[in-house]
This record gives sequence, C-alpha cells and structure tokens, in this order.
Amino acid sequence: MALLIRNGEIVTVGARVQADVYVENETITRIGRDLQAPPNAEIIDATGKLVFPGFIDPHVHIYLPFMATFAKDTHETGSIAALIGGTTTYIEMSCPNRNDDALEGYQLWKSKADGKSACDYAFHMSVTKFVKETESQLREIVADGTASFKIFLAYKNFFGVDDGEMYQTLELAKRIGVIVTAHCENAELVARLQQKLLAEGKTGPEWHETSRPESVEAEGTGRFATFLETTGATGYVVHLSCEKALHAALEARSRGVKIHVESVLPHLLLDKSYAERPGVEGMKHVMSPPLRAKQNQAVLWKALELGSIDTVGTDHCPFDTEQKLLGKNSFVNIPNGIPGIEDRVNLLYTHGVKRGRLDLDRLVDAASTRAAKLFGLFPRKGTIAVGSDADLVVYDTSYRGVVSAKSQHVNNDYNGFEGMEIEGRPSIVTVRGKVQVRDGKFIGERGHGKMLKREPAHF
Ligand code: URP
Ligand code: ZN
Ligand code: ZN
Repeated sequence: MALLIRNGEIVTVGARVQADVYVENETITRIGRDLQAPPNAEIIDATGKLVFPGFIDPHVHIYLPFMATFAKDTHETGSIAALIGGTTTYIEMSCPNRNDDALEGYQLWKSKADGKSACDYAFHMSVTKFVKETESQLREIVADGTASFKIFLAYKNFFGVDDGEMYQTLELAKRIGVIVTAHCENAELVARLQQKLLAEGKTGPEWHETSRPESVEAEGTGRFATFLETTGATGYVVHLSCEKALHAALEARSRGVKIHVESVLPHLLLDKSYAERPGVEGMKHVMSPPLRAKQNQAVLWKALELGSIDTVGTDHCPFDTEQKLLGKNSFVNIPNGIPGIEDRVNLLYTHGVKRGRLDLDRLVDAASTRAAKLFGLFPRKGTIAVGSDADLVVYDTSYRGVVSAKSQHVNNDYNGFEGMEIEGRPSIVTVRGKVQVRDGKFIGERGHGKMLKREPAHF
C-alpha cells in the first residue's frame, strides 16, 4: 500500500523543507507540496512535526556471549526497542571469540537475526585472531555483504588481537576496501592494572575506571592510528570516551590518517560518579571504556557539534542486575555494558539539540547520515530522497517524558539513564514504508527487518 506523509518539516543534512513524502513499494518516489495519493493510500498528517531519515545505530550488541554470560536482548526485543526510539537500522557486532571459527561465528550471528528483527540490520565482522584461513573467510564474509570489520585491542585472550593480527587485518582491509572499526584500549596495561588493584583489595566497581585510565585508551587510539597510517587502511574508533583519546585521533587525522570517530551516548551524558555509586548501582554503569571524569563531556559535545566526532552510537549491551552481580566480589567480573538503543535519539535531541549543544543538521548527520556514508548504506539509508528506502521518523517535539526502566522495551530490569528528561519522541516510524511504531507503541510486523548487503568502498 502507498503511504503519504503530509506537511511535515523534512530535515536532512544541509536542508529543511516543508513538504510531503510519498512512498510506493518500500521506496520514496516523490517529495513535494500538495502531493495527491490514491484513495487506498495510508495518509499521515505530520503538520507541526519534524520528519527525519530513519536513524542508524552503528554499534550495537544483540546476541553476545561475553564475560561468562549473554547480553539480554534478542533481535525481537532489541529491534522493537530500537524502532520505538526512532532507530530503523542497526549494525550489530558479530563477535565470535578467539577460540571460535570466524565463518561459523558469522553464520551463527546471522541466524540469530534472520526473520526476527523488526528493523533493518547489518553486521560488522569481528576479527578476533588472524590464522591461515582468516583471509579467505573474511573475503567470503565481505562477498556476503558485510563490508566492515571490528577489532578489539582490549579483552586479552577473548576478543583481543595482538599488534601482528591488527596489522594483518588492516593490510587485508586496505586491499579489499573494507573499513575497520576498533575498540582502542591497551589490553596489557588493563590486565596489569586490574591485578594491581585487586592485590590492594580494591574490588568494587569504582575501581573499574582506575584500571582503564584515559591514557590507556589514548595509547590504544594512537596505536590504531599509527597502524592505519602504515597500512593506508580506513579506520573508525568506536566508543571514544575522553579528551586524551580524541586528541590522539584528531592529531592523526590532521596528518592525513583516514580515521573516523564514534562516541556513544553514555560517555556524552553520564560520568564516572555513576560507577562509584554503592553496590550494584555502580555495577550497572560499568562499561569499557569506562565512564570518565565529567569535564570530558563538554569536550566530546564540542567535537560532536563540529563534526570532528563523526557519529553517535550506543554500544547497546544490556546485562541485568543479576548478571551485573557476577562481579560483586571483583569489578573484573562485572559484565561490561549498558543498554541505550531505545533512548539514543530522544536523549540526543533533548540534551543535544534542545540544550543548544547540537543543531538539527548535526543530529541527523551524527545519528544517521554519516554512519550510512561510512558503512556503505548511503543513499539507500541515511537520507530522505527519491529512490531511498522509506525509513522515516515523524518526530513530535511537543512530547514530554522521562526515561524509565518501567516503560522501556529493552529486555532489561534497569535503565542507565533512569530519570532523564525527554523533550520529544517519534510519533511515527516507518521501515521501507511500513508503519512500525505509532506514539511509543510497536504496531508493525515482527520479522519485517532485512539484512542489508554492503559493498566495500574504502580503497
Ligand atoms: O562495555 C562494553 N563496551 N561492552 C560491550 C563490548 C564492547 O566493548 O563494545
Ligand atoms: Zn568495545
Ligand atoms: Zn561494543
């Protein structure tokens, strides 16, 4: 059925226009004033509302065996939560560990999403070792449409790669035009600091940040940049959390290194005092890189406003209270991660746009368009244009609410952003022309989501 969204203010990077959007066969076919629709078309009145391109979260974990447990969401729950928050596409980290076969792992991750997701999705393929068969396996995975890799410089002996493996991954990525995303922390230093703190009897969540200080992240970021420079590959630092690491990335960029930067919602809005809360309340805010000293936030917001930080993701990775308590005797065993997929756009709009830290243009760019461009989805995704997929968010700026675990759709018993104000929310969310969300409720089709195939473009 055709869909006509009437009279909204369409916001794309570089343009704001009052117009109608007409959709046929999952695609935007017309944009203009006073468009006519056949009698059987679905009509949505967007008067007084903003119309955004569907938002893209470039960094989520849905299926994730990690730290002796599993992240809580499935593609059924995660995708519905994403859509309610205006995210119509997410890119999941496919994360087999060092002992797993990469290709089998990739197939497993795909099988978990297949037919289950209500939003569209793609994968970053984690390279967690580099052995004889790795190159041919990665080529096969890229040929299947997964044209981005992930490496972890942290998580020694589990996901982590050593410098030789990082070099081999980047060297291959350069040859085949694939962008490489990276978690940048020095694994050896983290391990040493953890041992030292535990030996001193410092076992609570408040020591997590001390075990992974800013310098450890800055070193990882700088080393990744040096390897990018040497190989000529294109890289993307995930969840960059602090000024020192930002400086390392931007200094490299200024000398011509092809390095992009993502920050995630927790580092923009929360600080390390959250992880210093007593007991399990602190554990709920343990993630890596850790929440930082508050003064980093202003630096990250400024860099985001200027576009020096390219994108905002979530690193959505929900573990519930019981799982967090796995680390009650040692912060080293607290499952790392926090949910965010449902709240990213509303919190960015409220605490970014409404608080004067971001303009609408950068909101759309950072939370949709730039990820689409970097990861081979543009212009199918990330914009509102004739020929693009009809992923649309009709945004109600008059809505007022508060983030709460009580009303969330993420499969978790807490929300790290509990109590934060929301000044706007999606009133309609479509995925390829199908209305999936209306006013905070999922009303669409489970399993409507498709895996998005992407071509290498970073030669
Ligand atoms: O704490 C985090 N970030 N958990 C998820 C795994 C990762 O490092 O992205
Ligand atoms: Zn990470
Ligand atoms: Zn992650």
